[in-house]
Amino acid sequence: MCGIVGILGTEPVAGRLVEALKRLEYRGYDSAGVATVENGSLDRRRAEGKLHNLEERLASEPLTGRLGIGHTRWATHGAPTETNAHPHMTDRVSVVHNGIIENFKELRAELLAQGVTLSTDTDTELIVHLVTRELEQGHDPAVAVQHTLRRLEGAFAVAFIFRNYDDLMIAAREGSPLAIGFGDGEMYLGSDAIALAPFTDTICYLEDGDWAVLTRNGLAIRDRNGQPVERPVQKSVASALLVDKGNHRHFMAKEIHEQPEVVAHTLANYIDFAESRVLLPDMPIDLASVDRISISACGTAYYAGLVAKYWFERLARVPVEIDVASEFRYREIPLQPGSLALFISQSGETADTLAAMRYCQSQDQRIASIVNVRESSIARESDAVLPTLAGPEIGVASTKAFTCQLAVLACLAVAMARARGKIDGQKEAELVSALTEVPRHMSAILRDEAIYDSLSHTLSKAKDVLYLGRGINYPVALEGALKLKEISYIHAEGYAAGELKHGPIALIDETVPVVVVAPQDEMFEKVVSNVQEVAARGGQVVFISDGSQSAAGCDVMTAIQLPQTHPFTTPLIYALPMQLIAYHTAVFMGTDVDQPRNLAKSVTVE
Ligand code: AGP
Repeated sequence: MCGIVGILGTEPVAGRLVEALKRLEYRGYDSAGVATVENGSLDRRRAEGKLHNLEERLASEPLTGRLGIGHTRWATHGAPTETNAHPHMTDRVSVVHNGIIENFKELRAELLAQGVTLSTDTDTELIVHLVTRELEQGHDPAVAVQHTLRRLEGAFAVAFIFRNYDDLMIAAREGSPLAIGFGDGEMYLGSDAIALAPFTDTICYLEDGDWAVLTRNGLAIRDRNGQPVERPVQKSVASALLVDKGNHRHFMAKEIHEQPEVVAHTLANYIDFAESRVLLPDMPIDLASVDRISISACGTAYYAGLVAKYWFERLARVPVEIDVASEFRYREIPLQPGSLALFISQSGETADTLAAMRYCQSQDQRIASIVNVRESSIARESDAVLPTLAGPEIGVASTKAFTCQLAVLACLAVAMARARGKIDGQKEAELVSALTEVPRHMSAILRDEAIYDSLSHTLSKAKDVLYLGRGINYPVALEGALKLKEISYIHAEGYAAGELKHGPIALIDETVPVVVVAPQDEMFEKVVSNVQEVAARGGQVVFISDGSQSAAGCDVMTAIQLPQTHPFTTPLIYALPMQLIAYHTAVFMGTDVDQPRNLAKSVTVE
């Protein structure tokens, strides 16, 4: 996750760009840079490492342009060097970019075949050459950018400035946030409102697919089809310290919508996109020697571990013992010394999980943890830490932390399978490619929430809701039930769909909504049979699938169609409808979405 800023100023902007970048350092800081336009000429300064290195560079080689863009980088493609630092530029255009361009290999080959000389390993440099090529064909900057955006696949945000245009900045958003700020004769853009807080509190947020043309006199936004659109202008409450809700009503909504970006950022920490392989940084445990795994966690984190059980057993052929930490800590499970014990926790402070970990320490286990708070107790006491890079999660109901946990666990399972020789490089590349597509699929799901809003009216009347799933999506059903019950207070229960006939089917009648997680994977036909058993007894089915409603083979109350994805990544994709169903139902019911009754964000007591 990188940070981007831009200022169309009435006075030199380099210093203010750096000030804004300092507010984005939480997004990454392995290198930084700024570029400006002055008297029509483009110029830039970049530096490796922290922002003060860039400040020193600017002090010795100042830039005085009144229009500029800036970037603080967290490397995804290409090492964190000055050469790879943004802004990237040709003599005609400069760009800063946050996100991942999935089809960069194809674009790179195309540009090289056209004789373009590339000087970096980054996907971003390709963008600046694509725009330059359009400009050289005589297109104006807006058309050049619009044509280029149509070539890019992935989740990203970009901002451009152009030679000979002293009053023009163009920005676009596809999956990574971008805020536009309004000043007095000035305009601003940034990855979030916090970056713009020193300049303005009057902002609007671009939506996915939007691209914006900024001049000092104002803003023209167009959607992905090139149609003019308006986005609401609001007062931001961002400040240096407060985590801002952005343009969302609740932190939970903001965090649901941050998932494309933070999952991409987390994946980038564990995947070498150029080589299509998993690269675990700082992993002192020899994965090839792992022959047993025990996993323990609580709540949503436990469900992430349950998904991982399927992945470790199916891919790495390693048996997994898993239990909720409040049980695990007292079971005195006999453990083979030297085996791997894995602990998953957003806060890294959950008392039961910490206690389970300490039991494993006493049994001479090798301890690895997946946490969202790097300096937490669980992290500090682990032999290996695999951080989720979800950023602060404020909503009590865990959302982005869950999908980031799944992203890390998926990478760990692939790495372990490879280390144990259970998959080859081709299979690894296939699975990595599937993971790389997840942010884009998430963005597509988040573009249309209307169906969840209307479904919430029905669910709000229910006294009991069942969630069904099979295989790696059985834990997703459990997570969906937890999400609904913890923020709407409606009783909900997740079940393995195959268990229906062993009891729960007795609950089914026309008052019971049944949410079915039904990706078209190897279990699909069996899940469809369960759907038909429910429908035959009057159950109100919510059919969530990449297949159409007709694939259910019966009438369903609601069908939610998702993008078709690799079976390996369905838990990350199907987690989103679970979150959105719960969120919209709770909002409709008027409960306290971000701080539900009786709950705490981190359960640090037994
Ligand atoms: C999930 O939405 C709940 N907030 C809760 O189940 C949570 O996942 C559980 O308390 C574990 O918290 P942790 O990830 O911080 O350890």
